[in-house]
Amino acid sequence: MNKTTSRKYRIATIPGDGIGKEVVPEGIRAIEAASRRFGFSVSWQPFDWSCETYLKTGRMMPEDGLGQLRPYDAVFLGAVGYPGVPDHVSLWGLLIPIRRGFQQYVNLRPVRLLKGMEASVKNFEPGQIDFYVVRENTEGEYSEIGGRINRNTPDELAIQETVFTRRGCDRVMRYAFELAKTRKRHVTSATKSNGIIYTMPFWDERFAAVSRDYPDIRTDQFHIDILTAHFVRHPDWFDVVVGSNLFGDILSDLGPAIVGSIGIAASGNLNPEREFPSMFEPVHGSAPDIAGKGIANPIGQIWSGAMMLRHFGESEAADAIERAIESVLGGGGPRTPDIGGKAKTQELGEAIAAEVSR
Ligand code: NAI
Ligand code: MG
Repeated sequence: MNKTTSRKYRIATIPGDGIGKEVVPEGIRAIEAASRRFGFSVSWQPFDWSCETYLKTGRMMPEDGLGQLRPYDAVFLGAVGYPGVPDHVSLWGLLIPIRRGFQQYVNLRPVRLLKGMEASVKNFEPGQIDFYVVRENTEGEYSEIGGRINRNTPDELAIQETVFTRRGCDRVMRYAFELAKTRKRHVTSATKSNGIIYTMPFWDERFAAVSRDYPDIRTDQFHIDILTAHFVRHPDWFDVVVGSNLFGDILSDLGPAIVGSIGIAASGNLNPEREFPSMFEPVHGSAPDIAGKGIANPIGQIWSGAMMLRHFGESEAADAIERAIESVLGGGGPRTPDIGGKAKTQELGEAIAAEVSR
């Protein structure tokens, strides 16, 4: 094994709100089990940044929050969101500053039908649906350029600019091609160059240009509207799907919805150059409707932990965690209510950790 690090990882944890605080400990439990088995070490530094903190202090995180996170190898986040705090406060006060400040320009979400899970689309078996959505995570439609005038008058208007840079397109596309090299060698681009006449043709041009550097990778592209239909009808067609911030956002919720519960879906916000920490978090939110009951599904968090270990180069440990999830789900192990069982968060977490240790 050729590892440049000492195999000691320092992780900043942000459990956040609601079920975030219930599932993060289970993610830690699985990673601790993997660290004992595979001989690396992990230290955890919790940060109490959350909407609850916002209600007390007026800030989601301290002013020098990014500076505090910077020394860590990664951020392991649960979920933020709390009734009474508008969602844009938690997003623009914590998640987006971290994603942008740390140049986490890839949002990576696996879409895989696990053993023991039923697809919400018919006739697919585990193994047939296995792809990644690669979402651009720093520019595109989510820009801060725009404004509003004539508020509360009949002449009111709102303008929001979309920003695509060559650098921003190329780097996320390159990531998708590099990922496809390690898989089935197929990249699909999400576009809308028929209707959106400046940015999307530019996106297509950059996709064609970047793909010329990868002649042995098959490519195709679909307009976002028909692509969502193909996700539902032909999820077996895909290997790596790359999309802009908005299209990628939509696809990366649709994908996990096809293969089961939101409680299982995992994600990474990656800075591929490793100049900054990357951040790993489940796709789900803080689930105020079930928070405090101890019944949240911890698998999204645990799988995000596996992605974090893979990012560190600990592939065997990541594989072991993913296999443990499947052997518990597929082998009649405990299940939380969202996937048809009666188990508590901790029972499922302990079963997976035990399987990792085996
Ligand atoms: P949500 O993901 O929190 O919940 C949607 C539904 O899925 C709920 O019925 C919930 O009980 C269920 N669910 C979610 N995760 C689950 C799990 N692990 N196990 C079992 N069931 C689970 O989304 P919602 O309700 O739209 O948002 C709630 C709060 O979370 C809001 O404040 C929102 O802004 C925030 N949020 C935060 C995110 C983040 O931190 N990245 C992402 C999405 C939402
Ligand atoms: Mg989303």
